[in-house]
Amino acid sequence: MQEQFATQVAAAHDSVQRRTDARPSFGVILGSGLSEAAEAFEGDVVAYGDIKGLPEPRVAGHSGTLTVGKTTAIMAGRSHFYEGYSLDQLVLPVFLLHSIGVRTLVLTNAAGAINPAYRPGSIVLISDHLNLLGVNPLTGPNNDSLGPRFPDMTEVYDAGLRGLARTVAGEDLAEGVYAAVPGPSYETPAEVRMLKTLGADLVGMSTVPEAIAARYLGMKVLGLSSVTNAAAGLGEGTLDHAEVVEVGRSIRTRLISLIEGLSAAHSHAD
Ligand code: HPA
Repeated sequence: MQEQFATQVAAAHDSVQRRTDARPSFGVILGSGLSEAAEAFEGDVVAYGDIKGLPEPRVAGHSGTLTVGKTTAIMAGRSHFYEGYSLDQLVLPVFLLHSIGVRTLVLTNAAGAINPAYRPGSIVLISDHLNLLGVNPLTGPNNDSLGPRFPDMTEVYDAGLRGLARTVAGEDLAEGVYAAVPGPSYETPAEVRMLKTLGADLVGMSTVPEAIAARYLGMKVLGLSSVTNAAAGLGEGTLDHAEVVEVGRSIRTRLISLIEGLSAAHSHAD
């Protein structure tokens, strides 16, 4: 993080505080095509454009709103490394959510399946990750008042939250290791074989910087992957972004009810 990052977080925090006084402790950052999920939640809606320093998502299917309710804050729309943003910009939403009181964070994404047991259209819980972006959001001077210089990453994705997700979903959701790659080109079949050798079950282009930042800040993290396709070379034919978005949308209703259930369970536990 850059020296001025704390100032940027404070500015983003001010923009939000001016529009709401809610202090939710449960937060969600939604991936591609899931913006409508935010509409299922009540709260004060703040457009990303009104939050200082927050990049406006450029990918179709991301609307860019933060909904702040009594117990839950939802960010609909995320920016990606492949769009050319700095990692500071990519993790600003996590620091912002932390600054308004969020301590449990759900990160959703679309992912390609490397594990042949995953069917397109299913939801998989992230159990661990491989950061293959070649960069880390915590690079740069450390602000010791926020988190440690060398944060532990033994359990980035909270096992208790995974158990809760299974209970709420009422099914034995599979779990697996998510590899984050820079994109925006999809992988070659050789790269997918490499990722499999490295221990990856899922591949995608997001989530890991946010998860690292959230753990740094001491938040509990749940990662939910919507499996949109078999990774390159493992399915039939080639990969098409429109199809990825379409399958992502088809999982939307299940994902939304899972998030609603988690939010309700969280507010009861509070
Ligand atoms: N690879 C990388 N990112 C993705 C994929 C994929 O196959 N599907 C959805 N996001």
